Amino acid sequence: MERLHRLNRLIGILFGCCFVLIFLFTVSVSLWVWPEKFQSLLVPSPPQELKPLDTLWHAPDTLSIPKGPEGDQIRRGRELIKYTSRFFGPEGSIRQMSNGMNCQNCHLDAGTRTFGNNYGSVASQYPKYRSRSGSIESIEKRINDCFLRSLNGDSLPNGSEEMKAMVAYLKWVGKDVPPKKKANGSGLVKLRWLERAANPERGKQIFESKCIRCHEKDGQGKRGRYSYYEYPPLWGDHSFNTAAGLYRISNLAGYVYANMPNGSTIDKPDLLEEEAWDVAAYIISMSRPVKHFAGDWPSLKDKPVDHPFGPYTDSFPERQHQYGPFATIEKINKSKTK
Ligand code: HEC
Ligand code: HEC
Repeated sequence: MERLHRLNRLIGILFGCCFVLIFLFTVSVSLWVWPEKFQSLLVPSPPQELKPLDTLWHAPDTLSIPKGPEGDQIRRGRELIKYTSRFFGPEGSIRQMSNGMNCQNCHLDAGTRTFGNNYGSVASQYPKYRSRSGSIESIEKRINDCFLRSLNGDSLPNGSEEMKAMVAYLKWVGKDVPPKKKANGSGLVKLRWLERAANPERGKQIFESKCIRCHEKDGQGKRGRYSYYEYPPLWGDHSFNTAAGLYRISNLAGYVYANMPNGSTIDKPDLLEEEAWDVAAYIISMSRPVKHFAGDWPSLKDKPVDHPFGPYTDSFPERQHQYGPFATIEKINKSKTK
């Protein structure tokens, strides 16, 4: 009786071991045969509108900037974009007319980094119609838009040596993109809408764990030796104003997802898309210079759903236009235009 019992137990254990072995074998074979299926369970699918990454636009090599006066002008433009505050910041050597930020703080690597808000499609697409102003804009007008809003400053005369240099540089950066075309990977990535409203409280936690190392706990960044800021401020008196492109949550979330913490890239993002939305919500919930331009969005139906100031063609409150959820707004607006 006792022996039979032991035999039974032994058989049970053997079966158990076989089962575990077969299970492990099946898992390893499947992982080997379909690695991408398993990966897709772990890694979230890419953001909206992401075309294949192997067709990405890359900026020309700065070593190819020609010698001579034409090249000097391009190099000068690049310098102005990298170190804007040295020339135009609060202690600027040419004119004190902006908040201390550099163009490069938002247009990374002097506007050449893939999805780092680069200038790849400026030369090919400007002059172009923009619905914010309801007019055809030149490159000069677009640059001054960023001076007035992102740098919360004043505009630069079109004929000035500095404006001409910046335009020359932007034309050089985009010189290989065919006319009218948009380069793959230029500007900012567009993330899929979050189904819920973005949440500033959750964003605060993400900010405290991932951003204060450089931007500081109060979000005011750190002053620098080579330009006014080594780490730029994210809100407060020295940050971009409420009329700037980054004040729209979709732009800010796309910028942060593909680039922050600094060094992250579109194919190696540090944050989940959801975290990028929440941390963007936290940043825009903090105070910053308030500016309104009377002529903005002359046609209400062209106003983006995440423009946080009314009036709108729908009856959703400003708060929902600021934090979402946006899909519901979009659905109503689409059904109206049908
Ligand atoms: C605070 C961030 C920030 C700073 C600083 C900034 N910009 Fe921008 N800029 C943006 C954003 C965001 C956009 C795109 C907005 C959009 O896509 O709607 C943009 C768009 C542009 C564009 C148009 C790009 C395109 O493809 O249409 C140009 C040109 C430009 N900026 C030039 C400059 C220059 C020159 C400076 C410095 C004088 C500057 N920007 C400083 C945030 C910034
Ligand atoms: C390792 C340092 C570092 C970390 C960590 C970091 N940043 Fe940045 N951030 C930078 C630097 C540097 C720039 C300016 C880039 C340049 O000038 O080349 C920048 C620029 C920005 C900008 C655009 C400029 C501005 O001031 O508005 C935003 C927005 C931003 N960071 C958000 C974040 C968020 C959100 C996090 C956390 C998820 C984060 N950053 C983490 C270094 C960092």
